[in-house]
Amino acid sequence: MKRQLQEIKEAVEKVLSGAADLEALENIRVEYLGKKGKLTAVLKGMGKLSSEERPVIGAMANDIRSFLEKEIDEKKAEISKKLQDIKLKSEVIDVTMPGKAQAMGKYHPLSQVMNEIKDIFIGMGFEIAEGPDVEYDYYNFEALNIPKNHPARDTQDTFYIKENILLRTQTSSIQVRVMEKQKPPIRIIAPGRVYRSDAVDATHSPVFHQIEGLVVDKGVTMADLKGTLETFIKELYGSETKVRFRPHHFPFTEPSAELDISCFVCGGEGCRVCKGEGWIELLGCGMVHPKVLSNCGIDPEIYSGFAFGLGLERVAMRRYDIDDMRLFFENDLRFLNQF
Ligand code: PHE
Repeated sequence: MKRQLQEIKEAVEKVLSGAADLEALENIRVEYLGKKGKLTAVLKGMGKLSSEERPVIGAMANDIRSFLEKEIDEKKAEISKKLQDIKLKSEVIDVTMPGKAQAMGKYHPLSQVMNEIKDIFIGMGFEIAEGPDVEYDYYNFEALNIPKNHPARDTQDTFYIKENILLRTQTSSIQVRVMEKQKPPIRIIAPGRVYRSDAVDATHSPVFHQIEGLVVDKGVTMADLKGTLETFIKELYGSETKVRFRPHHFPFTEPSAELDISCFVCGGEGCRVCKGEGWIELLGCGMVHPKVLSNCGIDPEIYSGFAFGLGLERVAMRRYDIDDMRLFFENDLRFLNQF
């Protein structure tokens, strides 16, 4: 029996040295030291031993068991450590490797021009106002003195959502919202998207952007309108740019005008871009109609004001010499990367 125990000890030591992973170790433990293992099997024969031999063999068996358990534990620690080392090595990050280049995003040309225009007006003491794209008929038309039978209300031009709700066709709707809430002095610009049921071509889009301006205070005159817009245009297009006001009509301003600038290509001589005119039409403006003021609860006997509205796409097209409005909306990176 002593010999059998000794053999088990040697056998385990031998297989242990060859065990490569934790699973193999566990198998060895079960095979030799488990309940149905080889050591237990040997001890089952103890009953046949004499009472002098039994404690001697018992003690020996215990020694061997605890010796082997210790051996297995040590081997287990060794294998675990090895596995961890392999894992750590495989997860090492080489911080000296070159990084992946990240493409840098930038502002859309329309946003660039919008930001420039905002900056100019903020510099003149204006605040930024906003209004909803989906608007009541009242704010887009009615309060702006656009009577029910006015051609601008034609369903050809306006996207209606319901009878009294539409997609705003002009940022002038924001004028009304601002005047209803805020009492003079008012000095705001209101940028936003506007919608018109136009077919797409090089100079038309059903969605485009406008920037509305509104100033209301005591004693505001046409001279303030001209001075403010001239200052703005010269900031935007350069101090050599000439400005011309041409009489026009808008239902919500009286008198009304359109502002032309001297052609930035030929400087006024006449060329292909200005169609030989020497001037380019840029925005609509005028003195706020007394009816619009009183519609908004502002007394036209005490206060007066001016308003203007310009199309952002037009400004940007002129600014960057772009001849097709569709380019702004196609998001072709070959186009956008040029700005
Ligand atoms: N809302 C006008 C348009 O869309 C522009 C405008 C704004 C004219 C303010 C006068 C005053 O054409």
